[in-house]
Amino acid sequence: MTSRARSRLDQVSRHVDSKSFLAVNTPFSTERSARIVDDQGNVIKQKSQPQPQEKGPKKIEPEVPEPPRKKMSNQPPHATLLIPGPIEFDDAVLQSMSHYSESHVSAPFVNTFSEVLQNLRKLFQTTDAASQPFILSGSGTLGWDQVAANLVEPGDEVLVLHTGYFADSFADCFETYGVKATQIKAPIGDRPQLDEVEKALKEKEYKMLTVTHVDTSTGVLSELKALSDLVYRVSPDTLLVVDGVCSVGCEEIRFDDWKLDVVITASQKAIGCPAGLSIVMASGRAMERFKARKTRPTSYFGSWKNWLPIMQNYEAKKPSYFATPAPQLIHALDTSLKQILSRPLEQRFADHKAASQKIKKAVGDLGLKQLAAKPENQANGMTAIYLPDGFTPPDVLPNLLKKGVIFAGGLHKEIATKYIRFGHMGVSVTDPERSDITKAIESLKESLTEAGYKA
Ligand SMILES: Cc1ncc(COP(=O)(O)O)c(C=O)c1O
Repeated sequence: MTSRARSRLDQVSRHVDSKSFLAVNTPFSTERSARIVDDQGNVIKQKSQPQPQEKGPKKIEPEVPEPPRKKMSNQPPHATLLIPGPIEFDDAVLQSMSHYSESHVSAPFVNTFSEVLQNLRKLFQTTDAASQPFILSGSGTLGWDQVAANLVEPGDEVLVLHTGYFADSFADCFETYGVKATQIKAPIGDRPQLDEVEKALKEKEYKMLTVTHVDTSTGVLSELKALSDLVYRVSPDTLLVVDGVCSVGCEEIRFDDWKLDVVITASQKAIGCPAGLSIVMASGRAMERFKARKTRPTSYFGSWKNWLPIMQNYEAKKPSYFATPAPQLIHALDTSLKQILSRPLEQRFADHKAASQKIKKAVGDLGLKQLAAKPENQANGMTAIYLPDGFTPPDVLPNLLKKGVIFAGGLHKEIATKYIRFGHMGVSVTDPERSDITKAIESLKESLTEAGYKA
């Protein structure tokens, strides 16, 4: 690997340096199962202390119930993960992963899968029976593959709205399937304007328009409702596809009301479940388009021809098999969705907005700027922050880590060394027992001061 490539890789992955993670205690953790690790991250077995040999018959200790402990987190001590996904987990979600092994075609598992699919409809705010949820093992990227392999055919044209790194990747995914992707690129921190989109839609017939609801590389939020109105007015046959990997669960999405055709997401961001599930909601119109395709889907694992009957059967509580699902992840998703839906969604979005406003104000008070300069372009689940002139992420991220806070470095290829990203989604925002956000703001201030910055 060239030294340039190596330093780029270091830049992107600095926040995943795990050497000192387990050494750091956070206010919401307990020492219950703290492990000691060497500097390679290997667990060191502690020598057991020699116990004095007791003589005579063994005393039977009465069973004393553990005193109730203040419930914050039962996870081993670790730095607070405040990157824009994966995020911190709730204990109950994590514990769902330790479900005993069960057959993936057994009634209890299929019933759980059914409930999860029904709850996804609620999360996306769709009551249209023709909408179709899919849950496949994989990450968010598999959502792009599903769209490119099932909803367009080789030679088709699609329009990709670019607000950062993830549009380039989605476009690249289309090209992989022989689909021609044209991008409208906005200046960094901004989004393509509606008149530009209108002009492009009038110039050519696009089968699909894609938009990244929140681009995780820039923290830019796109406006879906106005875009949908525009597409319906100017090019009503064009499907509107939303990359909601960094927005579902923290930004408002009204699937039916806004006439969205597809929203793809993943388990590990604002949904608050471990990584490993690709989640897609497709409209009745998108499913009609799929059924009308002339060629077979251009993926095997990701083919809806294979998955559609399985998802329909699961939802109807009928055992079915195409490829083995990940039962433990489905249990975790079941728990996280039930937690999310136990409160009004409006409240959840309002909580994320309030936390985001607090963070953005603190960033401004520190004299720092965001990539997304205009308030209407700013995401509510993350903030991309320009560092002061002359500072780079390695000046700040290690200081933050020492204080038990993990932010991510920059990801947009043109400015990656100039900014950092703060993810504020899920339990770090919604759990009143946690002080993650306040602590992160304080730690950011201190880390910059230690690096020599004067606000
Ligand atoms: C907006 C967006 N789209 C797609 C992806 C790809 O998802 P994954 O990394 O889960 O494959 C990401 C990942 O961060 C993302 O932020």
